[in-house]
Amino acid sequence: MSIVRIDAINVRNIRKISVYPSERINLICGPNGSGKSSFLEAIYLLALGKSFRTHQIQKVVTSGADTLIVFAECVSKHGLPVSLGIERGTSITRLRVNGSSVGAVSELAQLLPVQLINPDSHHLIEMGPRYRRKFVDWGMFHVEQEFFPIWSRFNQALRQRNAALRKGSEDSEIMVWHGEMSHCAHRISDLRSTYISELLPLASRITKKLLGTGELDIRFSPGWSTDEQYHIYLERSTKLDRSLGYTRQGPHRADLNINIAGVPAKDQLSRGEQKMLATSLRLSQIELLREKTGQTCVLLVDDLPSELDSERRSRLIGHLVDLACQVFITATEKELLAERLEIIDKVFHVEHGNIKEMI
Ligand SMILES: Nc1ncnc2c1ncn2[C@@H]1O[C@H](COP(=O)(O)OP(=O)(O)OP(=O)(O)O)[C@@H](O)[C@H]1O
Ligand SMILES: [Mg+2]
Repeated sequence: MSIVRIDAINVRNIRKISVYPSERINLICGPNGSGKSSFLEAIYLLALGKSFRTHQIQKVVTSGADTLIVFAECVSKHGLPVSLGIERGTSITRLRVNGSSVGAVSELAQLLPVQLINPDSHHLIEMGPRYRRKFVDWGMFHVEQEFFPIWSRFNQALRQRNAALRKGSEDSEIMVWHGEMSHCAHRISDLRSTYISELLPLASRITKKLLGTGELDIRFSPGWSTDEQYHIYLERSTKLDRSLGYTRQGPHRADLNINIAGVPAKDQLSRGEQKMLATSLRLSQIELLREKTGQTCVLLVDDLPSELDSERRSRLIGHLVDLACQVFITATEKELLAERLEIIDKVFHVEHGNIKEMI
């Protein structure tokens, strides 16, 4: 899917804009505070129903306004027109696909896969496991139709078990969830682990090209010791979990061990190198998505130059050209991408929340 036209109303300092991007590489330039990230935030909101900067939607809605609106005309992988719309405020979420209301953000997300690379990208390498679970589950959601329902089933049973643990319920009321949790946990782990093994060759190739260091290895860790079946683990740990008031281990604690040349990436790579590795991993997800489903992704690269030297910037931009998907890159000045300016299809200038195409 790619975006042909996007309108945004009341997204941070953007009052009202209408933009006709290129289906390939778009560069959004403007001074600090002009609204570049806000523009990307609008696209992200449309695809995922939430901001990448905050969980509080009122912070994203322009001060003094009640709701924000983002609307886009897109073209599907089969060349068909698709329109998507979202209106959000503190007590309102309205979602539309082709003019009809839809109930779940997942319906928009399924149609418009979006990947984000920004100055926080190194979190994927450096921070806690939830960043890496989100990474794997992005792929799961878009590539493996079975995943989302089974993940929802697991979470529902997990919430019930945790509630029973906290209430001090009888063992039988806790154990009643073990069968469902175990069935889902094993399937979730199989799907995630297969996804990672399919991703690894692509990720290794891109990492070598962009980062240029030793061999990448990614080990999937399912969240509990798979020496035993999950229901056996749950039974064995009921007493301890009861004292904690939650289920300590399981697919909700899964993680990835990401190594370069056998050493954990988080322990050896610089901030810029971590950003480049995280970028390589996300780019490999985009390629795998296309390989497996034929779907193209919209890629948002907020503040591309940050943390990257000119050689790495140039390699990254070169790769974005080969990727053949719609890309939105922001930078304070277009000269920061001077090494490869010729590959940018459209340049937009942002100032005080207004965006204009540069001819
Ligand atoms: N809810 C809001 N209502 C109105 N303006 C807001 C709101 N939230 C943030 N802003 C303002 O929007 C402006 C644009 O912010 P944004 O992060 O998009 O800038 P940017 O162009 O990405 O800047 P930088 O180059 O520093 O990354 C900022 O000046 C910010 O103060
Ligand atoms: Mg910004």
